[in-house]
Amino acid sequence: MEQAVQLKPEAASALLSVENVRAGYGEMDILHGVHLHVRENEIVCVIGPNGAGKSTLMKSIFGLVNIREGRIVFRGEDITALPPVQIVRRGMCYVPQTANVFPSLTVEENLEMGAFIRDRGVREKMEEMFELFPILKERRRQKAGTMSGGQQQMVAMARALMLDPALLLLDEPTAGLSPKFAEMVLEKVTEINRRGVSILMIEQNARAGLEISHRGYVLTTGRNRLDDTGRALLENEEVGRLFLGG
Ligand SMILES: Nc1ncnc2c1ncn2[C@@H]1O[C@H](COP(=O)(O)OP(=O)(O)OP(=O)(O)O)[C@@H](O)[C@H]1O
Ligand SMILES: [Mg+2]
Repeated sequence: MEQAVQLKPEAASALLSVENVRAGYGEMDILHGVHLHVRENEIVCVIGPNGAGKSTLMKSIFGLVNIREGRIVFRGEDITALPPVQIVRRGMCYVPQTANVFPSLTVEENLEMGAFIRDRGVREKMEEMFELFPILKERRRQKAGTMSGGQQQMVAMARALMLDPALLLLDEPTAGLSPKFAEMVLEKVTEINRRGVSILMIEQNARAGLEISHRGYVLTTGRNRLDDTGRALLENEEVGRLFLGG
């Protein structure tokens, strides 16, 4: 267990740990040495201004951006250089910020696509998803592209959950939704977490995101600014002024 020795104590027990990651596009660095960890059964929320590198961080974790320095450890294994398909096989799923459903496929077909590396239990898993998201059962033969934003977000989350991930990455799951649908989506996030899935989420609605999160990180210009419990961040003066509108 050579790896574990090198980890900081708090990160040693982590499900996911991001250590000093420097990454970007082309020649340009967007992340300048970012660290973060997610423990078993936690909801962790990342907040920060537009362009801070939140999506880039999530893509780096999921193998979609080249990491130039630092490393990502998931379930004790260094996954820094792995492609997304290998990361999925190890129990992590990712719901991107946009274009996260197959619009011309039905709800049911979207869920089947989600189960692409599952060799059995697809029906059972789909029934479980219909129980978690009853609206998707009603609409299972509807093309995903014709559904409302909130419903599409539920399709995207259900599709990711078809593989029973240990960790679910959600990039702005409430973006563009009305307050009512946003609340509904975050309630589902809490419910998914109660069922034993750890969650790393980016949320532009900082208050709502932090309220349901065990811990949170504030990212600005590709660097860690603050991290603490969700509650402490909600009460933090700087966070209040910059992100909570007060
Ligand atoms: N594919 C790309 N190629 C080049 N630059 C990119 C690419 N994607 C993002 N960037 C740049 O990286 C920086 C960080 O973008 P990123 O999408 O990670 O920010 P974000 O914090 O998720 O912002 P938002 O809140 O708007 O979603 C921005 O300056 C952006 O223009
Ligand atoms: Mg983003």
